[in-house]
Amino acid sequence: MTITVGTTITQFIIERQRALPEATGELTSVLNDVVIACKGIANAISHGGLAGVLGSAGTDNVQGEGQKKLDVLSNDIFLKANEWAGHVAGLASEEMEDVVPLPNGVSRGKYLLLFDPLDGSSNIDVNVSVGTIFSILRSPEGVDLPRAEHFLQPGTAQVCAGYVIYGPATMLVLTTGDGVHGFTLSPGIGEFLLTHPDMRIPEETTEFAINASNMRFWELPMRRYIDECLAGSDGPRGKNFNMRWVASMVADVHRILCRGGIFTYPLDSREPSKPGKLRLMYEVNPMSFIVEQAGGVSSTGRQRCMEITPEGLHQRVPVVLGSKSEVERVVGYYRDAAD
Ligand code: AHG
Ligand code: MN
Ligand code: MN
Repeated sequence: MTITVGTTITQFIIERQRALPEATGELTSVLNDVVIACKGIANAISHGGLAGVLGSAGTDNVQGEGQKKLDVLSNDIFLKANEWAGHVAGLASEEMEDVVPLPNGVSRGKYLLLFDPLDGSSNIDVNVSVGTIFSILRSPEGVDLPRAEHFLQPGTAQVCAGYVIYGPATMLVLTTGDGVHGFTLSPGIGEFLLTHPDMRIPEETTEFAINASNMRFWELPMRRYIDECLAGSDGPRGKNFNMRWVASMVADVHRILCRGGIFTYPLDSREPSKPGKLRLMYEVNPMSFIVEQAGGVSSTGRQRCMEITPEGLHQRVPVVLGSKSEVERVVGYYRDAAD
């Protein structure tokens, strides 16, 4: 298939589908609904303070995190766009405790769709980039009403993963297991157009992303890695590093896809019941699929993220991902500490 810059995302998806003899078009339909949802979210976000959508919703989600009005609104937009057409068999969201029941009378498709409707939502009130993350799995054969256990598949089972970044430009970045492709939303025609075909993460980097305020809670291998970066040209690495932290995983990962880098939210000892901050099913797995497809690596420090056997829809895991050589170095430090 020829991928041409400027191709609309719909055309891109249909052409990909044509190249697969076994494809039925159902994935195309799911992705079209996801695209419509994300355009709706982009529209809501772009109005900012004009539309009264900023600030707290006054509620907590299942994970005890305060919800922003836009968390709730984005979740509603995503659900409405994806539940009615019969393209999915089931939906699960960061903002909802259990899987989402589809409306009565709606036929079931063959895919499961998991999503973080608004990622980095602490940034919304200060007008900094946020995103949406999604992961698509196959619904197991013979299951009519998928329950949480049916969603608990390892990241390696994903059929498709993507994110949308609502930044200075709105972009959708997608993989179906054949590279990573980036599309920019044209405000003029309201379509995502291919602008970044075949995105690759540079193997080498001198830029890291971590919330360093948690340093005292980290495990020793992570402390060692960051200490060595901070020591710069005077330390064992013999070169200076730069640091960035947007506090929106989508924005941090997008930067890494564009210019390389390493991103980590490691295990820390603040709350022993929470092994890491980021959620496996709708944050870590889809981002890991994208990162690996772009030539990067994604690990917990001890295991490839996409090989974790999931135990819960909202399970948290440590993650370190990005440029191959740096992530492999961190994994090596964890291995050294275990010996
Ligand atoms: P969400 O807004 O969906 O809850 O995700 C926020 C996540 C992630 O996007 C980001 O990397 C991280 O939380 C930021 O954590 P800190 O607030 O500790 O910086
Ligand atoms: Mn998130
Ligand atoms: Mn979120």
